[in-house]
Amino acid sequence: MKFDEAKQILEKYNQEHILKSYKRLNEEYKEKLINQILRIDFEQILNLYEKTKVPVEFKNSKIEPIPAIDSAKLSDEEREKYTKLGEEILKSGKHAAVTMAGGQGTRLGHNGPKGTFDLGLPSHKSLFEILCDGLKKTWDKYGAIIPWYIMTSRENNDEATRKFFEENNYFGYPKENIMFFKQGELPMIGDDGKIILDESGLIKEAADGHGGVFESIYKNGALEDMKKRGIEWVFIGGVDNVLVKMADPIFIGFVADNNYKVASKTIVKGYPEEKVGVFCKKDDKPYVIEYTEISEEMANKKNTEGELVYSEAHMLLNMFNIEILEEIANEKLPYHSAYKKASYMDDDGKIINPETPNAYKFETFLFDAFGLVQDVGLYRGKREEDFSPVKNASGVDSPETARRDYIKYHNL
Ligand code: UTP
Repeated sequence: MKFDEAKQILEKYNQEHILKSYKRLNEEYKEKLINQILRIDFEQILNLYEKTKVPVEFKNSKIEPIPAIDSAKLSDEEREKYTKLGEEILKSGKHAAVTMAGGQGTRLGHNGPKGTFDLGLPSHKSLFEILCDGLKKTWDKYGAIIPWYIMTSRENNDEATRKFFEENNYFGYPKENIMFFKQGELPMIGDDGKIILDESGLIKEAADGHGGVFESIYKNGALEDMKKRGIEWVFIGGVDNVLVKMADPIFIGFVADNNYKVASKTIVKGYPEEKVGVFCKKDDKPYVIEYTEISEEMANKKNTEGELVYSEAHMLLNMFNIEILEEIANEKLPYHSAYKKASYMDDDGKIINPETPNAYKFETFLFDAFGLVQDVGLYRGKREEDFSPVKNASGVDSPETARRDYIKYHNL
């Protein structure tokens, strides 16, 4: 019954090859494959394959910079006012943190969830433990236990993440305040428009990008949990920045005092070619223009003081008001495609490990949510205090640079 239904769906969408491996599967996997076919929205995924390969067009758009408040230039009164307000928010239990840890970490090449990576500090702390240390400091200082929500993905091994926390006794943080939730996934499609299979013969699905955080905090009950706890402000960040402050009083106070629904702590771009996305307004809406999209002219444009006009880099250090989070979760973000190397099972059941990219992965980006609000408050932080990520195995943004910056910042 279910098999026939699945077969019909595949015929309709020209994807019959998916069932070629069916005979080779055991009963459990047969069932899994059929359930996948019945669950997947083929109309949507094939539409994405057709439509997302075109680059974003800026020719006819109005592009303007968004000014940021420079934290280094705040007056003593402002500094005090924001810090006090932020501390009150923390102490009254209205702040939560979300860590997006569902990425593949392909550039780093670590075997396992990226948060479990030991960057070689004398303490051998993992990225997860480094992040948790920040929350423990807030707990020590203000008596505030910040609820911590961790986004994982199936492909990146949700189970391994949970196990790692358990084995490490949740790094001494009260475990009822750490919640894990899985992000969504979408099938991957090969060059020929055919969905590919994974090594076990099931449809190969990949995490749907960091923009998936909004839908998944909603669908998995994390947002509901925050509301129950009386949370008003939510920090959402990545897993790989060793200097991240998930509960920074002055930034929280800045956001709350200015009534921003969404705000971002930026870092000023180091040089015009730096591979970071920068904030701008595109047709009057906040937008992050990726380094792959920005024109040379725009990247190099300077103001009369000789500073880059488009220099406020988005580093995934964002704050959201809980109400806007719910609204964003109910909106559809645009999808982007990325052409990736993906191992797969061919029609004869052979596992292929390609040397070059061979399949499309579909993702939404967190920063596309900024266009849903009129204003994003920008607060310029400091690179040496706020941002040092582990992205690559060596060179820039690597364990070596993160180690150096972490040791310097913490005076070790
Ligand atoms: P990146 O885009 O830097 O990706 O993610 P990555 O997985 O760390 O590394 P590469 O590009 O594969 O080498 C920025 C943050 O967003 C999270 C990542 O875990 C990281 O914290 N992320 C990304 C997700 O949680 N889910 C995704 O689908 C993508």
